[in-house]
Amino acid sequence: MKLHERVLSMLRIHEGYCSGEYMARELQVSRNSIWKAVNRLKDEGYAVKSSTRNGYCLESVGNAMLPSDISAALEPHTKQLKLQIKESVTSTNDEIKRLAEEGVPEGTVLIAHEQTMGKGRLGRSFHSPYGTGLYMSILLRPAFSATQALFITTGAAVAVCRGIEAVTPKKAEIKWVNDIYIEGKKVCGILTEAATDLENGGLHYAVLGIGINVREPEEGFPEELRETAAALFQDSVPEGLRTKLSAAILNAFFHLYQALDDRSFMQEYKERSFFIGRRVRLLRGNTVVSGIVQDIDEEAAIIMELDSGQIERFIAGEVQIDKKDLFNGGSKRNEMEE
Ligand code: BTN
Repeated sequence: MKLHERVLSMLRIHEGYCSGEYMARELQVSRNSIWKAVNRLKDEGYAVKSSTRNGYCLESVGNAMLPSDISAALEPHTKQLKLQIKESVTSTNDEIKRLAEEGVPEGTVLIAHEQTMGKGRLGRSFHSPYGTGLYMSILLRPAFSATQALFITTGAAVAVCRGIEAVTPKKAEIKWVNDIYIEGKKVCGILTEAATDLENGGLHYAVLGIGINVREPEEGFPEELRETAAALFQDSVPEGLRTKLSAAILNAFFHLYQALDDRSFMQEYKERSFFIGRRVRLLRGNTVVSGIVQDIDEEAAIIMELDSGQIERFIAGEVQIDKKDLFNGGSKRNEMEE
């Protein structure tokens, strides 16, 4: 444990103030090191009061996140995860890919307070301003084939819903394949990137990237996202929320990941998919088809009754749902919204 994490543990145990001298003695460092560690905690977002007479006192955890805090909330099956938290990165997925090439083990997790070039699906960007979201990537080295990689995403979608519902009173739903919606607006996107092993057709590794809008940015969402994006909270976020949320997602995901092959989570995935029975438009490259979604099968493909009356199965594509249907469950309108 790093010094600032050990100082934090001591401040947590102490009711009221804890003197710098006492901590320095207990941790066998100088008082100056304690002072520096406290400043580091303040930089991380912890509210620590200082008094020349009495020492330091932890007032609140605020919006802070530390690996040790997340670890403390992990269950036995996720205790071995290697957590890193960074202030700012271009993309946590890109960083984890770089680490994967260096050979770091499965279960390496990187969380950033900000991404300057957050990536979305289909070459889009993912808006990731400082301190307002949970931007997390997980390195996986699964034994299964590259085609199975889709189930990392579908499993993760279920895990994110469970995580959100564990720490907020909101109901989380899935928009096929990998977007999480609350009350008709997107709060989370998932991007899984895989490196395949050309020799055996297996996966060299996969990077599971999860981006959640935790609170609305001060300046609001950019114009192009305003209609479709939302955050878990509009402004004030409960203390330690991102810590609890990341631990809840990791616990839920690795629970499913242990038995990804049996796809037992697909039933829940289906139940959380809010467009079954609704009219959608499906974009596939340059082609667009529209019709009513009948079902999602065990392979996570959607079954649609097209306007022509034909029943078709699609394994990939981008679904657009009638904007008004997002809120009232109607079925035949023309105005579509992604
Ligand atoms: C999408 O909505 O199209 C997917 C968005 C995925 C965003 C996450 S944030 C953490 C990870 N790092 C990235 O650069 N992207 C993913």
